[in-house]
Amino acid sequence: MNKFPQAFLWGAATAAHQVEGQNIYNDWWQAEQEHLLKEASNSACKHYELYPEDFTIARQLNHNCHRFSIEWSRIEPQEGNFQASEIEHYRKVVADLRSKGLEPVVTLHHFTNPVWFSRKGGWTKFKQQKYFLRFVDRMVRELAGQVKFWITINEPLVYSSHSYFLGVWPPKEHSLFKTIKVTLNLAGTHIKAYRIIHGIYRQKNLTKPMVGIAANLQAFEICQPTLKNKLAACLRDKLYNFYFIEKILHRKTLDYIGVNYYSRNLVDVNNWGIRGLLSQTCQFNHHPLPKNSLGWDIYPEGLFKLLMALKKYKLPVLITENGICTEDDNLRWDYIYRHLLQLHRAIAGGVEVLGYIYWSLIDNFEWDKGFSPRFGLVHIDYQNQKRSVKQSAMQLAEVIKKGEI
Ligand code: GAL
Repeated sequence: MNKFPQAFLWGAATAAHQVEGQNIYNDWWQAEQEHLLKEASNSACKHYELYPEDFTIARQLNHNCHRFSIEWSRIEPQEGNFQASEIEHYRKVVADLRSKGLEPVVTLHHFTNPVWFSRKGGWTKFKQQKYFLRFVDRMVRELAGQVKFWITINEPLVYSSHSYFLGVWPPKEHSLFKTIKVTLNLAGTHIKAYRIIHGIYRQKNLTKPMVGIAANLQAFEICQPTLKNKLAACLRDKLYNFYFIEKILHRKTLDYIGVNYYSRNLVDVNNWGIRGLLSQTCQFNHHPLPKNSLGWDIYPEGLFKLLMALKKYKLPVLITENGICTEDDNLRWDYIYRHLLQLHRAIAGGVEVLGYIYWSLIDNFEWDKGFSPRFGLVHIDYQNQKRSVKQSAMQLAEVIKKGEI
C-alpha cells in the first residue's frame, strides 16, 4: 500500500466567479451581459449563500482543506469604495471552514477583475498594480490570523494568453505585445504582494504564512521525434511551465509551488514559424489517450514527470488543482486514482508534496465553455441548486480516511 505523508492536505477547490453567482461588478459579468460569451454565469451555484452546506459536504467527504477565491469586485465594486459587509462575508467563509476543520487555501486573483479596473486598462498598465496591492493589503490584514496558505494569482499565463492572445476571455484581445506585458505585470505584482503578505504577518507577530501562485503545468510530449518537435517541446516547457516560476523564485518570493495539472500537449510542428513552435499540436490522434468531455488527453504520468522536474527548485509542492470534466463518474474515479498513484510515486521519488486539491468541489461555470463541462465531486442541479455527492467523491473520501492508496 502507498501511504501519504502525515498531515497531508486533502481537499477541493472553487473560484468565486465560477460558483458564487451574481458577481455583477466584474469584467466577466459585464462581457456576459454583452453576449460576448457562450453563457452567462447568473446565479452559478449560489455558493455565496450556500457555502455552509457545501463545506459540510466537504467535511463529510473527509477533506481537511478547501481552496477558494475572494472576489475583488465584491470587496471594491467602485474604485476605493471598500465594502465592509463583503469583507465580513469572507471572514465568515474562513470561520466556517475553520469550524469544520478545513484549512483555508485562499486565492486573491482568479481571472476576474472589477469593471472599474479593466476600464482603466486592467493588467496592461504597470501603474495599476497599486490597486490590486491595496486590495491584497486590506484582505490579508483582515484574515491574517486565520489563514496560512495564500495564492496570489491563479495561472498567470493562462490568464494573459486567454485574455490577450487567444482572445477568448475578456477583454478578448489578440496582441502578443500585451500578452507579454500583462505576464510581466503579474509577475511584478506577485513579487510585491508576497512582500506585503509577509510584512503583515511579521507586524502582527504571526507564524510565517505560505505564499505562492497556482501554476498551470502541462506535459509537453512529442508526436514524432523530429528536431522541430524536440525543440518546440523544450521551448514550451521553459516558457509555459517554468518561466514564471523561475522569475519569482529568483526574487525569493515563493514559499511553495502550487501546481494545477490536467493534461498532455502532444507537440507536432510542421513549420519553423513562431506560432508553430509555440502552439501546434498533433491533429491526427497519434498516440491516443482517453479524453475528458472537452477532449483533453488524460495523462497521469505527466504529473509524475513534472513533479520530478520541479525537484530542482527545492520547494514544497501543493497540488492546487487536478480534475476531470466528464458525465462518466467511473472515469472520474479512474482519473483521480491514477493521478494519486503518480503523485505518490513522486513523493516516493523525493518530492515534498503538501497536499492534493481536486478541481472542483462542485460542478460550476467553466468560463467560456459555460455550464456543460462538469468537473465537480458534487453534482449540481442548476434548476433547483440541489447538491448530490458523486460516487467518485466517496471513493476519494475512503482514500483520505485510510491515508493510502
Ligand atoms: C483552471 C482554472 C479553473 C478551472 C479549471 C478547469 O485553468 O484555474 O478555474 O476552470 O482550469 O478548466
